[in-house]
Amino acid sequence: MINFKAKALEMAMQTAPIQDSTTIFVEIGCIREDHEVPSDGYSTVHMARYCIEHDLQFVSVDANEENVAIARTALRKELGGSASPLPGAPVVIHLDGEKYLKACNPISFLYLDSHRDPEYSLNQFLVANLVPGAVVAIDDAHPYDGWEYGKATDLIKLFDAEEIKWKIVPTHPQFKMVIARIVDGWPKSTESHA
Ligand SMILES: C[S@@+](CC[C@H](N)C(=O)[O-])C[C@H]1O[C@@H](n2cnc3c(N)ncnc32)[C@H](O)[C@@H]1O
Repeated sequence: MINFKAKALEMAMQTAPIQDSTTIFVEIGCIREDHEVPSDGYSTVHMARYCIEHDLQFVSVDANEENVAIARTALRKELGGSASPLPGAPVVIHLDGEKYLKACNPISFLYLDSHRDPEYSLNQFLVANLVPGAVVAIDDAHPYDGWEYGKATDLIKLFDAEEIKWKIVPTHPQFKMVIARIVDGWPKSTESHA
């Protein structure tokens, strides 16, 4: 079956700004299966491959130790030497997503795919350091458990309040992803442009 989530991610990554060698592509919520499951996405492998091909730094972060081990093994299996611990090679970090985002380098592309409660995606975004024009993708943005936009429900309210443009992209049957461009970066610059 075609992995539409991976295709949507790749198209979104292609639009992310590349500023310098310190900007990174980040995923919060790594794979939890050791093989391709299109309804999940197998995102860690697809993002890592894209970043290797485009000479970009990639970091995936997950709060679950077992899933971190699965992701590290999958990267070694799928990407071989490129996933070895060389400078610039893809990294999977065992940490809470919000904690990581509070402290990391400026991000050019941020993929939020962790806890099903939309509050997590919102809180992760709020502490992130995003370069101007950064692209943010939020997976599982289809309705469930009374949340109109799934994991993106709370963030969309913030995007609307901040006049940040977003769109919905259908992925796997019944699944959706939200993609937003953060034109002014985040946190928003307080400099006056007068
Ligand atoms: C839906 S899975 C991610 C699927 C993956 N992106 C893929 O495409 O196959 C959600 C992941 O988020 C992780 N997670 C849940 N809460 C988290 C948090 N607060 N910080 C980081 N990871 C978290 C879970 O351990 C799980 O591995």
